[in-house]
Amino acid sequence: MTAAITNVDACEDYPDRANLINAFGLKNVAHAVKQNDGKLIYISTDFIFDGSRGNYSKTDTPNPLSIYGKIKLPKLQGEQFILDEGVRACICRTSVLYGWPDAGQRDNFFSWAYNNSLSERKILSIIDGQITTPILIDDLAECIYWMRDFKNSEIFHTAGLEAITRLAFVQKIFTEMKLDLLPNVEKVERITFLKQKA
Ligand SMILES: NC(=O)c1ccc[n+]([C@@H]2O[C@H](COP(=O)([O-])OP(=O)(O)OC[C@H]3O[C@@H](n4cnc5c(N)ncnc54)[C@H](OP(=O)(O)O)[C@@H]3O)[C@@H](O)[C@H]2O)c1
Repeated sequence: MTAAITNVDACEDYPDRANLINAFGLKNVAHAVKQNDGKLIYISTDFIFDGSRGNYSKTDTPNPLSIYGKIKLPKLQGEQFILDEGVRACICRTSVLYGWPDAGQRDNFFSWAYNNSLSERKILSIIDGQITTPILIDDLAECIYWMRDFKNSEIFHTAGLEAITRLAFVQKIFTEMKLDLLPNVEKVERITFLKQKA
């Protein structure tokens, strides 16, 4: 199940709505899967951890800082609903996704940086110090495909191998895509504070 309110700040602003969709929506799906003796693959998030350490394993105790993360948290909401239903499930906790979106789909961080650098003469303001482990969407798809055949219920952490700041990630994208050679790319402005509630 991928459906969710994924705008983390909207979850802060409308926690009841976020709970209804992200937690109770999942409960309904888990119930339906159970009724049909199916298997649920649920996409959860690294936002269930507080990020103070990094490189978390599935045995680490979650400590979400945002409403979005809290709703996905075991023992409280999202993941717990799956356990309560006793449905066969793989919980796939993943990190920042990147790749080429299909037409009509919203940008991810990578495609946003790429498209903005190409189409507009603007400087991208990118947060420094926020470390993530971005995973290529094709790699995540392969993991999920593999989970499909996994017999037991299990939690998986699916993230890229490299822990990297958002700033370094964008710089890497520019280098790899040779955008740093384009005359219109004014590159990147480093910022240290992001005006985001979540
Ligand atoms: N993207 C990431 O970096 C990332 C990282 C970790 C975890 N995740 C998780 O991965 C999953 C997919 O994320 P995504 O990036 O693909 O998000 P997305 O592009 O925002 O897609 C979410 C989808 O959920 C649908 N949806 C929202 N409310 C719904 C409702 N009440 N009923 C039915 N469908 C509803 C949306 O439909 P509409 O477009 O019609 O609103 C949209 O198609 C989410 O569970 C998210 O928490 C994503």
